[in-house]
Amino acid sequence: MIHPPALPHGLQLTADGRLRHFLTVEGLSRELLTRIMDTAESFASVTEQSVKKVPLLRGKTVVNLFFETSTRTRTTFELAAKRLSADVLNINVATSATSKGESLLDTIRNLEAMHVDMFVVRHDESGAAHFIARQVAPHISVINAGDGWHAHPTQAMLDMFTIRRLKQRFEGLKVAIVGDIFHSRVARSDIHALRILGVRDIRVVAPRTLLPTDIATLGVTPYCDLDEGIRDTDVIIMLRLQKERMSGAFIPSLHEYFSRFGLTDSRLVHARPDVIIMHPGPINRGVEIDSAVADGSRSVILQQVSHGIAVRMAVMSMAMQPAITPEKTT
Ligand code: NCD
Repeated sequence: MIHPPALPHGLQLTADGRLRHFLTVEGLSRELLTRIMDTAESFASVTEQSVKKVPLLRGKTVVNLFFETSTRTRTTFELAAKRLSADVLNINVATSATSKGESLLDTIRNLEAMHVDMFVVRHDESGAAHFIARQVAPHISVINAGDGWHAHPTQAMLDMFTIRRLKQRFEGLKVAIVGDIFHSRVARSDIHALRILGVRDIRVVAPRTLLPTDIATLGVTPYCDLDEGIRDTDVIIMLRLQKERMSGAFIPSLHEYFSRFGLTDSRLVHARPDVIIMHPGPINRGVEIDSAVADGSRSVILQQVSHGIAVRMAVMSMAMQPAITPEKTT
């Protein structure tokens, strides 16, 4: 495993505090996260128009470098780049030279020689995006689209954007993250973002085997009982069992998991009546979430997907053209 550095924000910000790479939300300021959401708000209206393009990244080349399968994240990054008028190259490792033994660094050097401007990186090793960010030429930005169990910062920002749009605030909210916390980069990034934005009541709900032993050090309260964990919550973020990241048996059976931790309409009586249900996808119906909840009136899962485009447009434009980002408006 490649280990991310302890203070990665030194790497991801310019000397005047603007975004250069987006590798993790950890260590970033509330002001910067708010600016990302404000910028995304302006792009959300672009993506709702019939002509969905703005010229901010015209002439720039964005490379989607995916070493792990993905549908939503890769396609929303691709759409985001295209709506900013960038040229986009999609490289999936299964069909690229890395599957023939080429090293990550050689792949990067070759793409740099083609004068690309941005790498969007997904990798199953924690720290892969940091590693690339430390190697690239000064004009190139690196966006982390998920590294191992470590971080998924654009997912966290689209989750925060969704919460802000639907709840209009962060202070005073009660938020539960339910499911496979242990293997989840989304949980880690969401926890950091929620804390930075002022959420004090953050619960993580999972079987003991899927809770990291040191999770309380992140400032969250662990629960092993779903009804207790979601009591009076405003927001519930459901997570999939990340089977591809598990080695060994963490749960007795999927049936038992669903009966203890599956979110159903009858469990939801414990949450606030206006609770919103989120999920980064892909959802596993009947494992962590019942179809009636996933498709129900409190689910905002598909809104998260739409918001992903606006948030990724925001992050890409801020990283590429820091001087033109709008000033904070809220
Ligand atoms: C998440 C991921 O890849 O970490 N999904 C996503 O980005 N859409 C969560 C998951 O895979 O369960």
